[in-house]
Order: sequence, then structure tokens, then C-alpha cells
Amino acid sequence: MADSGLDTSRPHPARRYDYWLGGKDNFEADRESARQIEARMPLVRLTVHENRWFLHRAVRHLAGLGIRQFLDIGTGIPTSPNTHELAQLADPTARVVYADNDPLVLAHARALLTGDPRGRTAYLDADLRDPVRILGDEDLRRTLDLNQPVALMLIAILHFVRDAEDPRGILDTLIDALPDGSYVVASHVTLEYMTPEEFKAVRAVAEAQSQARSGVELAELFDRPDLTPVGPGVQSVSEWWADEAPNPRPRVEDVACNGFVARVTRS
Ligand SMILES: C[S@@+](CC[C@H](N)C(=O)[O-])C[C@H]1O[C@@H](n2cnc3c(N)ncnc32)[C@H](O)[C@@H]1O
Repeated sequence: MADSGLDTSRPHPARRYDYWLGGKDNFEADRESARQIEARMPLVRLTVHENRWFLHRAVRHLAGLGIRQFLDIGTGIPTSPNTHELAQLADPTARVVYADNDPLVLAHARALLTGDPRGRTAYLDADLRDPVRILGDEDLRRTLDLNQPVALMLIAILHFVRDAEDPRGILDTLIDALPDGSYVVASHVTLEYMTPEEFKAVRAVAEAQSQARSGVELAELFDRPDLTPVGPGVQSVSEWWADEAPNPRPRVEDVACNGFVARVTRS
């Protein structure tokens, strides 16, 4: 994100996201901008909540499968419960590395580093588009053992990487570093469930900020022989582990975000 976010008179995407989630780390300029977007795209607030709840369920689910290490890229302004809180609730020794490229998130990062002392939490000021730098980071290496399974969490970040920036190559580098039994979890903005009228209304707003992808395009980014999709692979975030989610479930058409989960198998 080009805007440093430290100027409170201008809207900032991370603070706007925080506003929609009901957080307190936002200012009038962010709220005004968020209201303007919401007027054209009323489903944005439900979408960010459903995305967040997908993150919660995914961490709980993977912790239940015995995953004790998480690499969460695209942290966002801390919103409790975060990945480390959920993972350490299941097992206080769980280890979590967060990474984000936004200076505003960095300014809030201390709040993320107060995990259970029996586990370990680290924050990297790093860019997803430089996966080699992330994987080689000393704090990451001190915190995670890349010989043991890791859950790579890419929650509502991949739509900020446009096709011209080689998202497939970035993912391949990250996934190649994961050992057998690891998991990949991603969520991604999509406009595919909208009516033509809704699509026309939101397209310009959505495309100015990010690159929405269809479920098929999202699955293609993860089409590798060492990845076995969990369940259907891609479905609306609102449908993942629906029996553990707040009820009643929203309609898929009202949530502009898909989720993908897969297990890494090494022969
Ligand atoms: C919509 S927020 C999602 C936050 C959190 N993952 C969630 O789903 O609640 C997207 C986050 O990704 C970060 N981000 C966007 N592009 C990035 C990049 N290239 N490298 C690292 N972080 C990035 C933004 O700064 C922002 O904090």
C-alpha cells in the first residue's frame, strides 16, 4: 500500500478494514471513505466479518489437527482474536510468525508480540512479493522449524498481488519450503457471485485497490501435485466449517470472498 497510513487526515485501507470489523484504530477520514464504499458495495462489511471468521475457524481446525506452527502473511491491524491467540489457546507452545508490509501495521505490531511465553510470536516487516526474504528472515528461522509442519496463512492478501507480479511464482517459492503435513490456507476477494448490476457498481472501486479473482483462478494459483485440496478446495469463506460458524449462514451471493485449504504431501 502506497500510503504510509500515518497521516490520519487521509483514508487508509488497513484502518478502513479495522472500521468495518468494528475496531478502534481508525479515524474520521477512514470512516467516511468506508461509508462511501459501503454505499456502493453494501456487502463489504459482511464480507470482512465472514473472512475474519473463516480465519478463526481455519486456525482452530488446523490446531485441532495438531498444527503448532503458523506463518500468517498479511497480518492487518491486530484484531483479537488473532492467529497466535487461537493457536495458543489450543496449545500454549504454538509458534506464530506474522508478516506485513504496511508501516501502520508495524506500528501496532507490539500488540501481536504478547503471546503465551511458552510459545513464541514474531513479527516481520516484509513483503509477500519477496518470499525469499521472508523465508530467510532470522526471526522466522528462530521462531519456526521448517522441518516440522507449518500452516501458511494468506488471508485476504493475494488480491493485492496482481497477475503482473507473478503470484504463482511467489506461492511456489513459499510452498516449496513447507514440509510434509503442512497446510496452505487462503482467502481471496471475488466478484463472481454478484449480479451484473452489482458487478457494474463495484467493479471500479474493487479494481482500483486490488485484483479480484474467481474461484477457478484462485484454485489455479495452487494447482500443484504436492497440494491436496481439503473438501472442495475453493468455496465461499462463509461455507467453510459452516456447522462451527455463526448461524444463520449468509447467502454465498452476499459474501464477496472465497476460501481455499490444502494439505502438503511430500513423497
Ligand atoms: C485486508 S487485510 C487482511 C488482514 C488479515 N489477514 C485478515 O484477513 O483479517 C490485508 C493485509 O495485507 C497486507 N498486505 C497487502 N499487500 C501486502 C504485501 N505485498 N506484503 C505484505 N503484506 C501485504 C496489508 O498491509 C493488510 O494488512
